[in-house]
Amino acid sequence: MSALDVRAFTVGPVQENSYIVRASSEATRGLLVDPGDEPDRLMRAIEALGVEIEAILITHCHFDHIGAVAPLARATGAPVYCPEIERPLLTDLMSWVPPGFGPFESYEPEHTLAGGEQINLADLDIDVIFTPGHSPGHLTYALGGALLSGDVLFQGSVGRVDLPGGDWATLERSIAGLLETHPPETVVYPGHMGVTTLGREAASNPFLSELRGHGQRWTISDRSAADSPAA
Ligand SMILES: [Fe+2]
Repeated sequence: MSALDVRAFTVGPVQENSYIVRASSEATRGLLVDPGDEPDRLMRAIEALGVEIEAILITHCHFDHIGAVAPLARATGAPVYCPEIERPLLTDLMSWVPPGFGPFESYEPEHTLAGGEQINLADLDIDVIFTPGHSPGHLTYALGGALLSGDVLFQGSVGRVDLPGGDWATLERSIAGLLETHPPETVVYPGHMGVTTLGREAASNPFLSELRGHGQRWTISDRSAADSPAA
C-alpha cells in the first residue's frame, strides 16, 4: 500500500532498533526514530543514503532509545520531538541510566508531543498516538501503513511493565487501541527484535490471549497471521 522505505539499525548493548524512515527509497528527506546508541554508525548510514533528516522522533525516553539523540541532533541539525511526560528524562539523561551504561548526553528537545497530534514531516503524514503502559508517556507513530511502536508490542512479546511508570493493564489497553484502529496488515517496526504485523500479533502473541478472548474484530486475522512481515 505504500512505498515507505524503512531502514533498521540495531544499536547498543540493549540491541535497540533505530530507524531511518522515508516516504520512498527516492526521497531525499527522512525521519530518524529512536536513535539509541552508536551515533557515528547512524550518521554514516544517513550520509550513505544521502538523506536529510528533517526530524528526530522519540517513542519513549528509556536510555536505550535516546542515547544518541544529542550527537545526532547536532550532526543533522534536525529538531527533536519528545514525549511530553518523559521530557525530564531526556534533559537529565544520566540520572536515569543504570550503572554500566553510557555516558550519554542530555538534550533539550525542540518539540514535545502528548499524543493525538497529526504532523507532516519529510512528506509523511504522521498520527501521534499515546500508548502508555511500558512507560508513562510512550508514543507510537503511525505513518504510511506502518507503526513505529517503540516498546509497546514485539514479535511474540510485549514491552516490560516492571520499570517505573509501567503498568500491564495500561499497556494492554494501548495495544488494544492500536489493534482496533489499524488493519491487521499494518507493519509494526518495534524498538527491539524483528518486524511484525498487527494481524500476526493479534493472532498468536501469547501476551495478548486475554484480548483475543473478547472477540474484537481484529481477531479475525488468520490471513495476515500467515503472512510474513515486510522487510
Ligand atoms: Fe523501553
